[in-house]
Amino acid sequence: MGNFFPRWTNWLPLKLAVAAGFIVFGASLAVPYYFTPKYTRVGYEPTQPVPFSHKVHAGQLGLDCRYCHSFVENSSHANVPTNQTCFNCHGAGKGNIKSASPKLELVMKANETGKPIEWIKVHKAPDYVYFNHSAHLNRGISCQNCHGQINEMEVVKHAEPQSMGWCLDCHRNPELKLRPLDQVTNLNYKPEQLDRSTFYQSLLGKGVKADEIAGVIAEGKTAAGLKDLLALADTTYGKTVTQLEVGTQLKKHWQVQPPDSCTACHR
Ligand code: HEC
Ligand code: HEC
Ligand code: HEC
Ligand code: HEC
Ligand code: HEC
Repeated sequence: MGNFFPRWTNWLPLKLAVAAGFIVFGASLAVPYYFTPKYTRVGYEPTQPVPFSHKVHAGQLGLDCRYCHSFVENSSHANVPTNQTCFNCHGAGKGNIKSASPKLELVMKANETGKPIEWIKVHKAPDYVYFNHSAHLNRGISCQNCHGQINEMEVVKHAEPQSMGWCLDCHRNPELKLRPLDQVTNLNYKPEQLDRSTFYQSLLGKGVKADEIAGVIAEGKTAAGLKDLLALADTTYGKTVTQLEVGTQLKKHWQVQPPDSCTACHR
């Protein structure tokens, strides 16, 4: 009889035990990380006291997010508007849009009593997390990156996990998300809609040297001016502007460096 089990199999039980230990340990980290509550919170869509539609107001009517969420660019907190904002259009005065509609009954009543409408919160970071809206919006991150396509939602729902891993994914690769500042509340923004010439012109206009821009497009390249840059971008990225093209330039020249130290988000 030959030796059925080669010598190394003596170690097999030990190896299996060690591997199992690692798997259990790994899973115990992975389960809370990926499944509770971060992933299950995606899709959370509470019924609000008033059937307010972002699809109508921000989508069809094209109101800018900041018309209602007026502090979002200047404050850590994104405010929900007061009744007064609704009354600009739905009030009994000049606007008077649908003021007799049953869907607006609560809004009308709230205005008489002066009590705010009790909107149900959709997004909530735990108290031990420090988060600041303006620090993101003023650096070229859009509402869309963190809240999804709100302008198409009849009812707001939690579109992104907003977990620690999710924050860090972007902090480590912000070039995949950065966009020009005037586009942060344009939820339909696509980099391919940008005019390449205008984009590079705006960087040059801010005093960035053509050589520095060229070096970001392709390692070691130089450029005398806009014309060279456009030619270089065409050969590197193709005919249309890409996210990486915009993102790597903005990251470099705005010196965007999102923190990943624990104390940045847990103070
Ligand atoms: C006409 C006013 C108005 C405009 C314009 C508006 N919002 Fe809102 N928004 C509200 C109101 C009222 C609520 C609270 C009720 C709800 O959740 O629908 C809200 C809630 C939200 C929430 C959820 C808040 C929470 O509880 O977590 C997000 C996110 C949001 N808005 C993003 C946006 C974005 C992005 C835009 C621009 C595309 C925008 N809003 C435009 C009025 C507005
Ligand atoms: C800039 C003007 C404007 C503002 C501000 C505004 N709305 Fe509206 N709202 C409209 C228009 C226009 C419609 C669509 C009316 C239609 O369907 O003909 C509408 C429709 C609605 C409807 C549906 C009414 C129905 O019977 O179909 C509700 C509910 C509503 N708005 C709530 C709100 C609330 C709550 C706020 C404040 C957070 C608000 N609106 C702020 C202009 C506005
Ligand atoms: C970098 C990610 C990020 C961006 C960009 C962002 N948000 Fe938020 N938003 C969050 C997080 C995280 C929360 C939960 C914050 C908390 O609980 O303190 C939140 C909460 C909110 C709330 C609820 C506030 C409350 O207390 O009820 C509103 C409204 C809101 N965001 C609107 C916006 C709008 C409008 C924009 C764009 C102009 C925007 N956000 C951009 C991540 C983001
Ligand atoms: C889509 C990309 C993106 C996401 C998602 C994101 N961040 Fe950021 N964050 C940035 C960028 C860009 C900056 C700006 C860095 C700079 O100014 O150099 C930043 C800066 C910060 C800062 C430093 C500025 C300050 O306010 O002190 C903190 C803290 C922070 N983020 C926390 C968070 C937390 C918490 C989350 C998740 C809830 C989050 N971020 C999600 C891109 C993102
Ligand atoms: C970019 C922001 C950011 C950074 C940097 C960060 N965290 Fe967090 N952390 C968060 C957010 C957001 C949550 C809340 C997650 C949630 O609610 O899903 C969190 C949750 C936690 C939790 C709670 C455990 C859990 O899964 O609910 C611990 C523990 C933690 N962080 C430790 C750390 C440590 C240690 C570091 C440094 C290595 C760190 N964090 C760096 C944003 C951050």
